[in-house]
Amino acid sequence: MKTIRDLDLGGKRVLVRVDFNVPMDEEKNITDDIRIRMALPTINHILDHGGKLILCSHMGRPKGQRVEDFSLAPVADHLATILEREVRLAPDCVGGESEAMVAEMQGGDVILLENLRFHKEETENDPVFAQQIARMADVYINDAFAVSHRAHASVVGIPAHVAEQAAGFLLQTEMDFFHKAMDAPVRPLVALVGGAKVSSKLGALENMLDKVDTMIIGGAMANTFLKSQGVDMGASKTEDDLLETAREFVKKAEEKGVKLYLPVDFVAADRFAPDAVVKNVTFRDIPAGWMALDIGPATTTYFQEAMADARTIVWNGPMGAFEMDAFARGTMAMCQTVASSHALSITGGGDSNAAVKKSGESANISYMSTGGGAFLTLMEGKTLPGVEALKG
Ligand code: 3PG
Repeated sequence: MKTIRDLDLGGKRVLVRVDFNVPMDEEKNITDDIRIRMALPTINHILDHGGKLILCSHMGRPKGQRVEDFSLAPVADHLATILEREVRLAPDCVGGESEAMVAEMQGGDVILLENLRFHKEETENDPVFAQQIARMADVYINDAFAVSHRAHASVVGIPAHVAEQAAGFLLQTEMDFFHKAMDAPVRPLVALVGGAKVSSKLGALENMLDKVDTMIIGGAMANTFLKSQGVDMGASKTEDDLLETAREFVKKAEEKGVKLYLPVDFVAADRFAPDAVVKNVTFRDIPAGWMALDIGPATTTYFQEAMADARTIVWNGPMGAFEMDAFARGTMAMCQTVASSHALSITGGGDSNAAVKKSGESANISYMSTGGGAFLTLMEGKTLPGVEALKG
């Protein structure tokens, strides 16, 4: 994959697809700007080399309509503050006014095009739309790992119409870390997988089974695996249509010699609420009508032991409903364990990253991916359309 370092950028119009789909509060303050900060090496490299920087991104899912709530205006302001230079917001990502703004640019200028998804042609990968944007650029850089699993116009369409295209530093870093962890890992390789549903991660679980030495499953998805082994999970969330699949999975893990760890106790509650009645129970003692909402203390120790000799850890998905303090302890303990491990540790997905942030351990994780869906796509063993498009 060609990278930005391989290109001569001086005086060129450099169009960079970034993922500035960042969370904001009601006053439009950006509450987590990590995706913007992670794009800075690419942005600064282009500016330092005299390129004319044209950034483009989506924000939310406005479904092809111009919805002011999804404007990138707050992002332009935030970026200007970080860069300490003017960032002009083009009124649209296509059209005469934006083209005229680009035509006037000098080396070192920065323009952010307005939300790509104000046009349905973006998600439809419309070739005319892609060409309209592409003609504003001499060079195309993809630095939007988090959206590279989407075959959208700005991800796969534009690069086909620009003379030169390459990966930015963030995309390259994400791919390098993932490759180190999953394709050429220092072993033992341990996967820690959690979250609500088996169904949304089945592809990833199946693929990982061929790669990892140890698989630890927590979160509500573990309920389905335990139920498939005959455990009475009370009123816990389970996916009963997947019981047979889960049973097969447990069998396959055994056949492949993968050590599979499932919870042995829980923090159970009489209802899904922050002020629910709560108690620690073993997997044999979940009271009728109660639900498992976090892993219990014995499971925490058991999972910590499973990670003790890990040299590589890949983590996706929380161990419980950690957004409520009563059910956060298990996930927080996993954050401490992964952070204090000497293994190469990689986390991906909005929930796991939010949990790591909440635990204050972000600096002690080797790499926190900026991707959710894109990270999961790689875990499934699939290629990313955005990466494929750079191969020309
Ligand atoms: C994300 O937040 O995961 C990316 O920005 C992709 O957004 P999407 O799921 O709306 O395509």
